[in-house]
Amino acid sequence: MQFQSPTLVVFGSGSLSELGRIIHEDLRARRPFLVTDKGVEEVGIPAKAISQLPGIQVFDDVEQNPKHLTVNRGGEIVRQYQPDLIIGLGGGSVLDAAKAIALLAMNSGKIEDYEGRSKYIMPPLPVVAIPTTCGTASEVTWVSVITHTERKFKMSIKGPLMFPVVALVDPDLLLTLPRALVASTGMDALTHAVEAYTVKPANFMTDIFARESLFHIFASIEDAYKDIKANSEAREGLMKGSMIAGFAFGNSDVGAVHCLAESIGALYDVAHGVANAVLLPYVMEYNLPVSEKKYAEIARIAGIDDEDDGQAAQSLIQKVKDLSQALNIPSFKELGIKEADFPEIAQKSFENNSNASNPREVSPKDYMDILSRAHQDTQNLSKQNPI
Ligand SMILES: [Fe+2]
Repeated sequence: MQFQSPTLVVFGSGSLSELGRIIHEDLRARRPFLVTDKGVEEVGIPAKAISQLPGIQVFDDVEQNPKHLTVNRGGEIVRQYQPDLIIGLGGGSVLDAAKAIALLAMNSGKIEDYEGRSKYIMPPLPVVAIPTTCGTASEVTWVSVITHTERKFKMSIKGPLMFPVVALVDPDLLLTLPRALVASTGMDALTHAVEAYTVKPANFMTDIFARESLFHIFASIEDAYKDIKANSEAREGLMKGSMIAGFAFGNSDVGAVHCLAESIGALYDVAHGVANAVLLPYVMEYNLPVSEKKYAEIARIAGIDDEDDGQAAQSLIQKVKDLSQALNIPSFKELGIKEADFPEIAQKSFENNSNASNPREVSPKDYMDILSRAHQDTQNLSKQNPI
């Protein structure tokens, strides 16, 4: 059993104001470089960071499902600028791009040359990760997921030297997060916690974090979705749950839900959290024969009080479906994924590195069956916002 978490966590409302001190005094950085995106800039968050770091160079071209060409362009800019630290300020796409750019700053070639584990020669630059969404947990994990657009494949670039040195987690950065993103990134966090708790590599340490994460997410996600501005407790709870899930899945793994979501995300520009949310209950149904006990434990954390494990596990799956509906997550059908692409999605999911971690073995045919079941289920098709 191994458990690693070298990242210093600075958590709390208003903690973004500590950025300048952390960069200059704690980390002694003199030439930081900021990676962000235009959506975050529009709501004025980077300005609060830049005001503490006068003259900092900014790269703001990161897009949803960050692309290899974007990261390679960022890499060329940092090789010229020669910063001594990278700050990632944004959602999971930005944080993943920042980690990849930090690698390219110190290593020659392109990001696709570093696909896999510990392929870097030189240690990447230190990264300070500041999340502005409540799902990815990239601020505390060693992985960067970058889409290779020509291969239509999401590459995982990872290694023990890719953990951010500091995760600066300020729940107030969620104040301007649109509701749809509260929903999708929150459901990504829930998927991380459920998968981390049930995958084959789960261990007693990851279980501690997965359970704590599940508690916070179930307690906060609906209130956060209703009004994240007005509800500081829910805002903080969801940010906590999202980050804590990272300690869990970062050390155990994710499973078949993420295999499918990553395969879909490489073919269609679907939000990662939405892809996870729509597939989570169907993968849970598939895993039920081997994961019933753990699902029953999760059910109790979620407030379901069925004594029978089988009944509790079934109730949990229904609760996950109901939750997606309450958060106005689109149905699988509404994502517009063509049935003709199912075989390719199934094959790519099977080839995903995390496929082997899923609690129950999943063949390409099994993935096809899961996709078909999600496609046929019409529960979430009628959208009446119940919140
Ligand atoms: Fe995820």
